[in-house]
Amino acid sequence: MPERFPASLQQKIEDRLRYYEDLGIRLFYTDRGPGSTGLAAQEAVASAPSPTPVFEETALPKSTPKPAPAKAAPPAMHPPLVVPPTGPSLFEAMDKVKDDTLLKIREDLGECTRCKLHKGRNKIVFGDGNPKAQLVFVGEGPGADEDMQGLPFVGRAGKLLTQMIEAMGLQRKDVYICNVVKCRPPENRAPEPDEVSTCSPFLMRQIDSIHPKVIVCLGATAAKTILNTTRGISQFRGEWLEWRGHKLMATYHPAYLLRNPPAKADVWKDLQKVMAELGLQLPKKAKS
Ligand code: URA
Repeated sequence: MPERFPASLQQKIEDRLRYYEDLGIRLFYTDRGPGSTGLAAQEAVASAPSPTPVFEETALPKSTPKPAPAKAAPPAMHPPLVVPPTGPSLFEAMDKVKDDTLLKIREDLGECTRCKLHKGRNKIVFGDGNPKAQLVFVGEGPGADEDMQGLPFVGRAGKLLTQMIEAMGLQRKDVYICNVVKCRPPENRAPEPDEVSTCSPFLMRQIDSIHPKVIVCLGATAAKTILNTTRGISQFRGEWLEWRGHKLMATYHPAYLLRNPPAKADVWKDLQKVMAELGLQLPKKAKS
């Protein structure tokens, strides 16, 4: 079948559909099983004998002017909205999003085998901290220590992150800390695109449910995943960005700081901006 979208756009659409799927919204399509391209599914739906549309033309307000009939109708670009035989209604699904909690998200994640990272993991590292935190830190993925303990940022980089948090006058229990992927990548390699796209909907749900004032992305993987960009982190590190109603700051990953200590000064500048945004004072010790 000919490609109708560039591969990168197709990937974005698939990622977005997967995100909705993880939020429990499954009304946009009927078939995204293995081998389905989405578009194939949509064509199958379009040619199906009697799909049940959710929004029939009669649902439009009577005053809505009808468009002039096109001479030759182009092929539909969207799958018709179809009520699945089972599953939540759109309103039920939206309620689910509204009432989402970290507990429910953890339950939905379960003993996850959605991507290949599960094969090498010891423990899932879901996230840790205050479920109502004003400040969320997002890292890349668990390392060896995190994988053993099931907690984020508890190894060497984690100790540095803890120091950074304490320098801000906070404690780990005041903030929430999580990662883009919940299972350790082998040899601490960066998570691969399929792993990120499979796991990141859970991260998005975590952020939505916590609803922090500020998100700090630790390193390029977190920043690129959340912002959905391929731009290098150095192009926007230390700048305030806006993401879905949250203020977002990308800064260097603590593991990078361990290899490159002079960059700590840049990170401290970034964290001071975060402190100002949250109305935090420098702790007394740091003032003198
Ligand atoms: N690095 C990360 O990105 N996350 C962790 O949890 C630990 C190290």
